[in-house]
Amino acid sequence: MCENKKVGIIGLGAYLPERVLTNKELEKMVDTTDEWITTRTGIKERRIARDDEATSDMAVEAAKRALDDARLKPQDIDLIIVATITPDMFFPATACLVQAKIGARTVPAFDVSVACSGFIYGLAIANQFISSGTYKHALVIAAEKLSSITDWSDRSTCVLFGDGSGAAVLGPVEKGGILSVYLGADGKKGELIKLPAGGSRIPATKKSIEDGLHFVKMNGAELFKHAVKIMADAALEATRPLGLKAEDISLVIPHQANIRILNAVAKRMGLSKEKIYLNIDKYGNMSAASSAVALVDAVKEGRIKKGDKVLLDAFGGGLTWGAIVLEWT
Ligand code: ACO
Repeated sequence: MCENKKVGIIGLGAYLPERVLTNKELEKMVDTTDEWITTRTGIKERRIARDDEATSDMAVEAAKRALDDARLKPQDIDLIIVATITPDMFFPATACLVQAKIGARTVPAFDVSVACSGFIYGLAIANQFISSGTYKHALVIAAEKLSSITDWSDRSTCVLFGDGSGAAVLGPVEKGGILSVYLGADGKKGELIKLPAGGSRIPATKKSIEDGLHFVKMNGAELFKHAVKIMADAALEATRPLGLKAEDISLVIPHQANIRILNAVAKRMGLSKEKIYLNIDKYGNMSAASSAVALVDAVKEGRIKKGDKVLLDAFGGGLTWGAIVLEWT
């Protein structure tokens, strides 16, 4: 029961909505240009979910693909975690909705709300349960419908976000797997990015809706500064206990917030830009789903091989952050 097992990712899957929203289309919606968005963020296009497609629907698609990849059935899963800040509703948890939709057993299912760090927090929690021997297989899904909390008249935020989902099945492995985990949070900086209304502080009223308080509010420039330091520090905290140097990392899978943030993180870490995986051009910032989808794409593109040391690194609203070093199995 108390024997510590090695835990690895044994299946991956992603789902992106079909609808592509390009920078050119955004030029017709707000006062912006493709050139501004591309040079300031690295984003060219993003996916937008259908009106009838909620976060749990996208989560289910990614989960099914990850289960197939792991050659497991929903009944084999002992724990379901969904990382999201755009749940279908406050409760039931989106993880419970997913559990029902995929036909899993009545296993524990809950959401994690730490914005863009959610996939890493989810992996970290699942890792604890599996390494302790409590559970054998966990499904960690990161899914977001950020388009549902985006103010489409605010050019400072609407060009950044997109919808999508990624999922990982975790289980015991013989060798490698998760080597180290580092998590953190700083609630004092929570004001920098938030969704002000809809909770118990400002319940939904006609006024809260008219004031646009159900949309993401963000201080982009301040976040930018913190993001670079936080991501570089988190990378160091996760690699240091293993005695790893920057050059020992084969690929960094970062939260895809802004290409300029990621270039600055690479510089601070002493890493070449090529070692930082990017797909922000295609999907924008999908909060928790960003690093999950990036991991799926990197594996699909053959950028990660068996034995590689991979660093997952994210920061987000809260503020929260997390980094995980994995040896790919
Ligand atoms: N198109 C054209 N101009 C714009 C746009 C736009 N879409 N948005 C802002 N501008 C203008 C501003 O109004 C400003 O104009 P001014 O100089 O006349 O006042 C100018 O561009 C510069 O604005 P800044 O906000 O200083 O631009 P910056 O270079 O900082 O880029 C950005 C903004 C992209 C938001 C950047 O600050 C950023 O990426 N920050 C981090 C955001 C982030 O990581 N958020 C998510 C973390 S948490 C989570 O994902 C849930």
